[in-house]
Amino acid sequence: MSGEHPATGTRPRVRDAAGGASAVAHPNIALIKYWGKRDERLLLPWTDSLSMTLDIFPTTTRVRLAASAGRDEVLLDGVPARGEARRRVVAFLDLVRERAGLSRRAVVDSVNTVPTGAGLASSASGFAALAVAAAAAYGLGLDATGLSRLARRGSGSASRSVFGGFAAWYAGPSAGPDREADLASFAEPVPAGGLDPALVIAVVDAGPKAVSSREAMRRTVATSPLYRPWADSSGDDLAQMRAALLRGDLEAVGEIAERNALGMHATMLAARPAVRYLSPATLSVLDGVLQLRRDGVAAYATMDAGPNVKVLCRRADAHRVADAVRAAAAQGAVHIARPGPGARLLGEGEDGR
Ligand code: DP6
Repeated sequence: MSGEHPATGTRPRVRDAAGGASAVAHPNIALIKYWGKRDERLLLPWTDSLSMTLDIFPTTTRVRLAASAGRDEVLLDGVPARGEARRRVVAFLDLVRERAGLSRRAVVDSVNTVPTGAGLASSASGFAALAVAAAAAYGLGLDATGLSRLARRGSGSASRSVFGGFAAWYAGPSAGPDREADLASFAEPVPAGGLDPALVIAVVDAGPKAVSSREAMRRTVATSPLYRPWADSSGDDLAQMRAALLRGDLEAVGEIAERNALGMHATMLAARPAVRYLSPATLSVLDGVLQLRRDGVAAYATMDAGPNVKVLCRRADAHRVADAVRAAAAQGAVHIARPGPGARLLGEGEDGR
C-alpha cells in the first residue's frame, strides 16, 4: 500500500490554491432502512441499515477557510442558506472545528443536482460531500471510516454515501459511553456477487415534504406501537439481505428491500398522529410494479420519506421498467440509476459531474 486514501483519492488533506477543498458525493437509497434515532445529538440509530449508492444526482461542495472572523457563509445552490438548513451546516462545521482545534469560519458552496426535499436523500450526498471537503480543508486527515462517522453527524444516511456500491451502516451497541458509541457507528462496503442492478426512480412529486424525516422518525419512535416489531425484524432482513447480495440473487434482494420499506411506512402510519408519505401516485406506481412482476419482470419497490418510488430491477430490464413506471406515474419524471462511486476529493478544476 502506498498510503493511499480510500475515500479521498491518493493524497489526503488535499487543499486547493486558495486553501479550500472540494468534494463530490452521490445519494444512496436504503434497501434496509434507517428509521429512528436512539441518540439525537450523536445521530446514532436504533438499527443497522444497508444501501446502494447511486451514479446520478451528485452534490459538489467546496469548503474554504475564511480570512475574517464573523460567521460561516453557506451557499446552497448559489443561495445563502437560512433557517434549519444553515443551522445544520454550521453545527457540522463547529464539530469539525472542535476536532481540528481551529476556530476559523468557513465559506461553504454546495451544488446539488437532486431535487431537494423530495425524499431522494439530498442530505446524504450533501453531508457526505461536506464531510470530505471540510475534513480536508481543516486538515483532519481522516480515513474512510472516520469520514463515515463524521458524515453521520450531519445526517445519518450520509455515513453510507462515503462508500460506493452497497454499504451497511452499523448502529453499534445500544449502551455504553458516548465515545465508544460514536466510534462503533459507521458504514462500510458490503460485497455483492455478480449483481447488475438498476434503480428506476419515479419522481411523482418533487416538492418539499410536509413533515421532515427527522420529525417523522422522532414521532414514530415515540408513539408507534409498530416501531419495535419493525426494528426487530429489520435485523433479520439485514442478515438475509447480505446473503442475497453475496449470491447475487436479485429477486431475494428486491423482496427483502420491498418488505423492509413497506414495514417502515407501516410504523409511520401507526404513529400518533400518523405520518403518511405515500400518495395516490405512489400507490399507482406500486400497482405498476406488481403488474411487472406478474409479467415476469423482477421489479421491487422501495420508498423513503416522500411519495417517490425507487424500483430495483436488473440493468437489462431498466428501460422496460422505466416505461411501465412512467405510465403509472402519470406526469412524473423517471430516472435510471446504477451503483455509483463513493465520496471523493476533487482535484483543482474538476467539477465532479
Ligand atoms: C427514510 O438520514 O435524512 O431515507 O439522520 O435525521 O438526517 P437524519 O435522517 P436521514 O434519514 C433517511 C431516512 C430514510 C431511510 C434511509 O435512508 O435509510
